[in-house]
Amino acid sequence: MKESENLWGGRFTESANKTFAEFNNSFKFDRRLFSADVRASIAYCDGLFHAGVVTRLEAERIKNGLSTILKRADYNQNYFDEIAAEDVHSFIETRLVQLVGEVGKKLHTGRSRNDQVSTAFRLWLREKITELSKIARDAQQSLIDSAEKNRAAILPGYTHLQRAQPILWAHWCLAYYEKLARDRERLDEVWRRVNVSPLGAAALAGTSFEIDREAVARDLGFEGVTANSLDSVSDRDFAVEFVGAGCLIMVHLSRLAEDLILYASTEFGFIELSDAVSTGSSLMPQKKNPDALELIRGKAGRIFGHHTALLAMMKGLPLAYNKDMQEDKEAVFDTVDTVSSCLQVAKIVLENTRVNAEKTRIAAAKGYLNATELADYLVQRNVPFRTAHETVGKIVLYAISKGKELNELGLEELKGFSENIESDIFDALSLEQTLASKNQIGGTAPERVFEALEHAKESLAREEN
Ligand code: ARG
Repeated sequence: MKESENLWGGRFTESANKTFAEFNNSFKFDRRLFSADVRASIAYCDGLFHAGVVTRLEAERIKNGLSTILKRADYNQNYFDEIAAEDVHSFIETRLVQLVGEVGKKLHTGRSRNDQVSTAFRLWLREKITELSKIARDAQQSLIDSAEKNRAAILPGYTHLQRAQPILWAHWCLAYYEKLARDRERLDEVWRRVNVSPLGAAALAGTSFEIDREAVARDLGFEGVTANSLDSVSDRDFAVEFVGAGCLIMVHLSRLAEDLILYASTEFGFIELSDAVSTGSSLMPQKKNPDALELIRGKAGRIFGHHTALLAMMKGLPLAYNKDMQEDKEAVFDTVDTVSSCLQVAKIVLENTRVNAEKTRIAAAKGYLNATELADYLVQRNVPFRTAHETVGKIVLYAISKGKELNELGLEELKGFSENIESDIFDALSLEQTLASKNQIGGTAPERVFEALEHAKESLAREEN
């Protein structure tokens, strides 16, 4: 009888069609799970020993073989391409049998690639989430640094992309800092649900060998074991959640990119991006384009695509494992790679951004950004807010007709609209006072912002220890 070429040859008399085999094989991409899968196999081998399936000597031979495979892959660049394999699991098994002989064939006792793949994927993703969170932390640090470097910078805040109220540049930086802080919390939460071991669920019904699932899980640093074998091998909700968390990171980075692209335009002129993060035009010699930021904005769509792909891939699957689920990997791998690089590039762009504080200040001082301030002033003199709003609206209309800002109007002109306006109005309408009055928690008053900046710095420093 011929020795089968794959893991399931006994029942088969013909070999697979070549085109189908290529279509079916995942080794070209799931080799990224290689070391995670070997690690899981080493722990599982101990489980087999304690279950009495393999002797101590056999376990040692299998485990040594697995460690050797890890090392060989490390120094032999062609290690993965020397043999054709369907997926990373069959690759490792083939290599093991090559290396240690028949005893290697005992490793797969009581397990299936179904619990194996979920285990390796979780081990791999667990590490990547931790790395990603650190990269997001570095991006947060660059926001803090930009806030610190531009403490004095004031710019217009916008709603509907219309100038609304003045804010500090540091306030803008900390807005994105907060978004990333929540993104990292989400990553932590996903990490906790990823960090559970499905090993021992076997194909779908559980294993018939006395594998101490909890001991194997502990060995692999998992927090516990999954509760239901059928659930364990049939779901990829952890992957969907992870990509979902990635989507929100990308929403945030994309908005940061969009803000900066606008600010870097000649129309705004608020910031200048250094040459290091810009590109030129092949045709127009004067151009300096914010490609780095545009790519971040563009790549967001790609991650949303992965999220949709995963949801759609899962929604109609009957329990338990179906091969459709092999599609989970590329979506997750690309999410890890793309979100990491976008976070890194966002950080580099921030480090290469010069704020033109003179221009931003002029923009913040023009366009009636202190109109709300004037209404609040009237409210402090007991005018109901709605009435004050109406009065200030009329004053703005009048000022527009005169081509003046509110604080350029004379006291008598202002008094014409409301008797409550006194000479202290000019202080109240100054840019400094407009900022300083937003002095509750979360407001843009310098006192509040620099307090928040200190908290942010402390919080990141605490993490380092
Ligand atoms: N390469 C497969 C995947 O990623 C491994 C699991 C295969 N299981 C099976 N029953 N064919 O999903």
